Amino acid sequence: MKNNLSYGSVADLFPRTGTILIADSWFQGRGILEAWGCPVLWVQASEQDKTLSTVERLVTQLLELQADRDTFLIGVGGGITTDITGFVASIYKRGVKFGLVPTTLLAQVDAAIGGKNGVNFDRYKNMLGTFRQAEFVLIDTDFLQTLPLRELRCGAAEMLKTFLLADSHAFESAVEVFRAERPQVPQWLVRRAGQIKMDFVSQDPEDHGVRRLLNLGHTFGHAIEKCSSRYAHGEAVAIGIVMAARMACEKGLLQAEDAERIRQDFAACGLPVEPPVPEAELHKAILQDKKRSGETIRYVLPTAIGTARLWEESVTA
Ligand SMILES: NC(=O)c1ccc[n+]([C@@H]2O[C@H](COP(=O)([O-])OP(=O)(O)OC[C@H]3O[C@@H](n4cnc5c(N)ncnc54)[C@H](O)[C@@H]3O)[C@@H](O)[C@H]2O)c1
Repeated sequence: MKNNLSYGSVADLFPRTGTILIADSWFQGRGILEAWGCPVLWVQASEQDKTLSTVERLVTQLLELQADRDTFLIGVGGGITTDITGFVASIYKRGVKFGLVPTTLLAQVDAAIGGKNGVNFDRYKNMLGTFRQAEFVLIDTDFLQTLPLRELRCGAAEMLKTFLLADSHAFESAVEVFRAERPQVPQWLVRRAGQIKMDFVSQDPEDHGVRRLLNLGHTFGHAIEKCSSRYAHGEAVAIGIVMAARMACEKGLLQAEDAERIRQDFAACGLPVEPPVPEAELHKAILQDKKRSGETIRYVLPTAIGTARLWEESVTA
């Protein structure tokens, strides 16, 4: 699989003909995207709008603009916008080419990389979607300047997760950066996180094996999101990682001091580290979910700062 990541300024992308932008409405009226001279279709970056009806509306607008199979779509925004753009591009006229310009840290290190796209359906997040790789993912870290601190920290959680899997040195450096009151994220850290994710994706594009390690913190994280609306996804993942580290420690897979260091480092970066509901409730939510689908419960457990392994538990009656 080709590495489609590039780092630089979006100014180099334009002018382009035959391109339509699908962009986060946060940019509407700010003059940034309008200056690129392409038609822009706006999307609201909210999980409630990450739906088939938004996809239908965008398809209608593309038809109105007489978009054909040679039209090139560029998604500009956070993970919601890049997920929607990839999905629309993969189904419009059986598929058109697209590029992504992620503008949140979370999208720059995670959501826009790897070819997964989709929308929510009913109560289920990302229930409908496809695997389709973008022609390019252009990462311009200047976009992070306007990102609210809470969003930056959500991205930090996914970035720290990636480093916990593969690079202890980058983990330490990232913790130093995110300790700051208003972190200035250096491009090399964003690049390193993207490169690690890309390595996992290249080995396992459709998520049947090693790519699943990227779900570190997500089994507990999703349960937290189900039981409480207090935390954003990245925050729930941060708590999930701390819980996974504790679990790894109980199973003798991780040294107690490493588990404690992970907890302290996430807390130092301004991320929550304690679940908002009792742990027993979370285990119940995880179990119920899996019983319904008959699957095994899959955890990713850190084995040191810089490595992790899969851990499966079968659901017994
Ligand atoms: N496809 C994947 O592999 C993958 C992986 C992880 C997450 N996701 C998806 O990503 C989504 C979350 O992405 P997200 O955290 O980027 O959320 P998001 O798209 O909702 O963006 C977060 C907020 O930041 C605003 N924003 C975007 N860019 C900005 C900028 N430069 N300055 C100021 N504000 C800006 C948005 O308007 C929004 O309010 C979820 O829907 C999740 O399912 C997908």
